[in-house]
Amino acid sequence: MKMNWKQISFLYAAIAFGVSAFAANADAADWGAYQVGDHRSGYTYMTDETRAMQNDNFQNPGMLWVEQGSELWSKVDGKAGKSCASCHGDSGDSMKGVATRYPVFDQNAGEIQDVESQINFCLEKRMEAKPYKWESSEMLSMTTFINYQSLGMPVNVKVDGPAAAAFEKGKAFYYERRGQLDMACKHCHEDNEGGMIRANLLSQGQINGFPTYRLKWQKVGSVHRRFRGCNSMVRAKPFAYGSEEYMNLELYVKWRGQGLPIEAPAVRN
Ligand code: HEC
Ligand code: HEC
Repeated sequence: MKMNWKQISFLYAAIAFGVSAFAANADAADWGAYQVGDHRSGYTYMTDETRAMQNDNFQNPGMLWVEQGSELWSKVDGKAGKSCASCHGDSGDSMKGVATRYPVFDQNAGEIQDVESQINFCLEKRMEAKPYKWESSEMLSMTTFINYQSLGMPVNVKVDGPAAAAFEKGKAFYYERRGQLDMACKHCHEDNEGGMIRANLLSQGQINGFPTYRLKWQKVGSVHRRFRGCNSMVRAKPFAYGSEEYMNLELYVKWRGQGLPIEAPAVRN
């Protein structure tokens, strides 16, 4: 196998890390909507069984979170005596397309908001209710439910204008080496996508399917949980859920999948 310097430097890191083998990138297939230009959804790296599970609502375990979110949507909570439905009405109308646009730069807050932080903003400020904890079952249910309203719609985040500074920070994070293994996101998800790392086929690390049901987790998890996992994998200290670093990174990574369909809840290994 002929390798360029990038792959050779990856191989050194990989030996320390325990990568077993490199596989050819079997990407000759026509992935339809799951591939847009060079962007390929994590879906295209899964086994047929995992894809079948995602495709069928009765088999997709993530649908349980959609159902729970649907119940929460019209549940009154907080001192203002309101539910989400009191203001937003039919989620199929009001939440349609939200997942394609988020995260967004919020002019008032002066920072990036993702779906999770927007939910907590409404809970605290508009319902006078307690915010949900980041990886709580309420938060996962509500985000999965909201993102599901955009199923199949193409990712279309805005990264220019007021969002540009955050986008650049997220991009810098993506290319920065970190952790004991001294590896950046790009070493795995850009330079070596299609390669094998332990038992995993490396994908582009797209987030169009989040919250995602991971067979390994046996539940759905947020984008930030996944970021934390990947940071820990290279033995770097993960950042906090909802941290500015992860908000900016989320915007950048979402942009890397511009045009890919929203798949929430996706099923992954
Ligand atoms: C008192 C009214 C009110 C309640 C109750 C409320 N919201 Fe909101 N919400 C708003 C307003 C106003 C906005 C900003 C304008 C807009 O985008 O609709 C907003 C925006 C949003 C957005 C962004 C929509 C977009 O298109 O950018 C999401 C997502 C959202 N709310 C979720 C929720 C959820 C989930 C709940 C229940 C936990 C909730 N909201 C409860 C008033 C409310
Ligand atoms: C040491 C290699 C490695 C590094 C470095 C790494 N990841 Fe990953 N990542 C993986 C593996 C392995 C998986 C699971 C298989 C796959 O989807 O690629 C994964 C999965 C993901 C997924 C889930 C993709 C999906 O379709 O659900 C995302 C998102 C992701 N990584 C983002 C990142 C980000 C952002 C960084 C940098 C902070 C990063 N990763 C750094 C190895 C890595």
